Amino acid sequence: MATIRLEGVTKRFGGVVAVNRLTLDIKDRAFLVLLGPSGCGKSTTLNMIAGLEEPTEGEISFDGQVVTHVPPHRRDVAMVFQSYALYPHKTVYDNIGFGLRMRKYPAVEIDRRVRDAAAALKIADLLDRRPHQLSGGQRQRVALGRAMVRQPAVFLMDEPLSNLDAGLRVAMRAELRELHRRMQTTFVYVTHDQAEALTLADQIVVMQDGVVQQVGNAEDIYERPRNVFVASFLGNPRINLFSGTLVAERGGVFFRNGWLDLAFPAETAARLSPHAGKDVMLGLRPEDVDEKISTPTATVRGRVKLVMPVGSDQLVGLRADDQDVFFRVAKESRYGAGGEITLGVNVNRLHVFDKDTTRSLLWD
Ligand SMILES: Nc1ncnc2c1ncn2[C@@H]1O[C@H](COP(=O)(O)OP(=O)(O)OP(=O)(O)O)[C@@H](O)[C@H]1O
Ligand SMILES: [Mg+2]
Repeated sequence: MATIRLEGVTKRFGGVVAVNRLTLDIKDRAFLVLLGPSGCGKSTTLNMIAGLEEPTEGEISFDGQVVTHVPPHRRDVAMVFQSYALYPHKTVYDNIGFGLRMRKYPAVEIDRRVRDAAAALKIADLLDRRPHQLSGGQRQRVALGRAMVRQPAVFLMDEPLSNLDAGLRVAMRAELRELHRRMQTTFVYVTHDQAEALTLADQIVVMQDGVVQQVGNAEDIYERPRNVFVASFLGNPRINLFSGTLVAERGGVFFRNGWLDLAFPAETAARLSPHAGKDVMLGLRPEDVDEKISTPTATVRGRVKLVMPVGSDQLVGLRADDQDVFFRVAKESRYGAGGEITLGVNVNRLHVFDKDTTRSLLWD
């Protein structure tokens, strides 16, 4: 069992603030993902939980015990890195069991744990091979196995799938979830890949420049982003953003910018009316449009620039309001570059951000 608490944790490297006053509670047996762009402080955060880096300020505790300055080998953690250096001359069996041998576990116990881990990771038939006789995905499993046999209370992973090809990465996601279910321990997982975060995590921490932007489950983060950064970081292609003004008129609230004129539904309007007159950014995700126009007033119109099939549907790129925007439409639809297109807007799924603070005016 392991709950982890970070309280006001800051890490500076000279003048660089890698992590800035991070406060976070990680529940026992959570699958928590630290998500954000390169350089946002994910690895530094993980390394501080592992004990590989010491915070400049703040406190870290496991199950209520302060561990801020406790070295890694005295914390009950195991870590898997992106570059999983395996011992090239040792077999898979010895690679997995090495840590236990060093800790002088009895051979019978090592054997039991290695075989259990290998079975769980589906590499039981590879135990006699050496790393160069394995595929990338199999090597990654050996690295996971090496961490698993330690039976740590906390399992830390830093982009463990990034060296794998796309197909294998997706398959390994499902296996990591299964591994988490079997191990019943706390997982903290670092990635810059939004799809990985959305499929793996029960809790996602979105970071930017060392600062936590939002904490929540996949739905919270995707459906109710707290600011423009979170809204833009998740979603593929990214959310379309339009500058404009909120206008209260005739008992309704509208977004206007000369090109778009949208009325918000009653419930949203009620939340937005205190902000009437503000300059805002309107967010409309590519999938939140409809080719069958139900409300004739809520539409986007533009000239088609490109049409891109993406398998299950297609993306239409428009030149609209002096910018390129993308929408997802049915794969059967026929649009040609150069033609006009009008799409209905799903007004129940609009996002509205304060232009100055970039914070959401709908959810905080
Ligand atoms: N040992 C160090 N010395 C100086 N600066 C460092 C050190 N380690 C990290 N940094 C800086 O701290 C910031 C956060 O780095 P970190 O490695 O935590 O980012 P990250 O989110 O893991 O990025 P990536 O996705 O590229 O791995 C970066 O600006 C980085 O250059
Ligand atoms: Mg990193």
